[in-house]
Amino acid sequence: MIRAVVRGFGTALPKQVVTNQDLEKRVDTSDEWIVQRTGIRQRYIAGEGETTASLGADAARAALANAGLTADDIDLIIVATSTPDNTFPATAVNIQNRLGMHHGFAFDVQAVCSGFVFAMATADGYIRGGMVRRALVIGAETFSRILDWSDRTTCVLFGDGAGAVVLEATEQPGTCADRGILTASLRSDGAHKEKLYVDGGPSTTGTVGHLRMEGREVFKHAVGMITDVIVSAFEATGTTADDLDWLVPHQANRRIIEGSAKKLGIPMEKVVVTVDLHGNTSAASIPLALATAAADGRIKKGDLVMLEAMGGGFTWGAVLLRW
Ligand code: ACO
Repeated sequence: MIRAVVRGFGTALPKQVVTNQDLEKRVDTSDEWIVQRTGIRQRYIAGEGETTASLGADAARAALANAGLTADDIDLIIVATSTPDNTFPATAVNIQNRLGMHHGFAFDVQAVCSGFVFAMATADGYIRGGMVRRALVIGAETFSRILDWSDRTTCVLFGDGAGAVVLEATEQPGTCADRGILTASLRSDGAHKEKLYVDGGPSTTGTVGHLRMEGREVFKHAVGMITDVIVSAFEATGTTADDLDWLVPHQANRRIIEGSAKKLGIPMEKVVVTVDLHGNTSAASIPLALATAAADGRIKKGDLVMLEAMGGGFTWGAVLLRW
């Protein structure tokens, strides 16, 4: 059986770090409020010349170097983003060009904070179907550019960045001991639009718009939705929370992460948390966290790893893989 195995990973962050203390000077907020409610201590904010595509391309280059490959070895690029450089062409095609790659194909996936999980599941389908041998899956965002910087309820929560993995087709026996993506569980429900959305778009206002969120409403749904898709992924593979080596959640808020882990009976020692460093980088948060934990040696070859996210739409999903 063909499985999509992670062969390399990489990240890219903007140069500028913005701390909670920096934000205290900009809006009526405090380090104490932000840390207590979210766990966020700092975030990276894109400056001049830094865009979703530039950060995504840098993360892709780092992932290719880590895999010992070049763009010539890649058949497919999928970019998960809600903050593209342009309405079109897709940021994935922009990155393809930045990598000097003129073969294969590239497209974007838009599932907001769940985007990386949806993109991994999509790439897995192409690889298992035999159409693609190697794929670059990238989560890249510049949410700072869609924030209303006068709205303290949202502007303190988000940051910019990118992470990437190289997936490679490998023949495996077809059991849950295999390396690679074992299963994915994806969901969406558009009835929740008003709770988290951007109030602009090419076909409505002709503007880019700003992020709007009913934070409490999002919080209320998050833990239940996240744990549902994780349980589905366990059931599909005959595994349990006890088998898991690492939970790599979307980094929106430390309280949501802790609540989900507690409900699933996963100790926090097995949970990768980077929200303190990066803030919520939407589709980039999982590959940033995953690459951080792989680079520092926490995630090792053969480890069972659950990725999960919930975001605007609502969309939510989980991917279970063996590293
Ligand atoms: N600084 C100081 N005070 C603030 C700030 C701020 N930045 N923002 C809001 N407040 C105030 C409010 O005005 C309110 O004051 P009031 O009681 O005088 O009216 C008080 O703090 C409490 O506000 P709540 O919104 O009720 O605070 P809550 O405890 O719900 O925390 C938060 C807000 C952190 C946004 C929380 O609801 C949350 O984490 N929600 C989930 C949001 C999330 O994770 N979204 C992303 C998931 S999807 C995706 O990633 C795109």
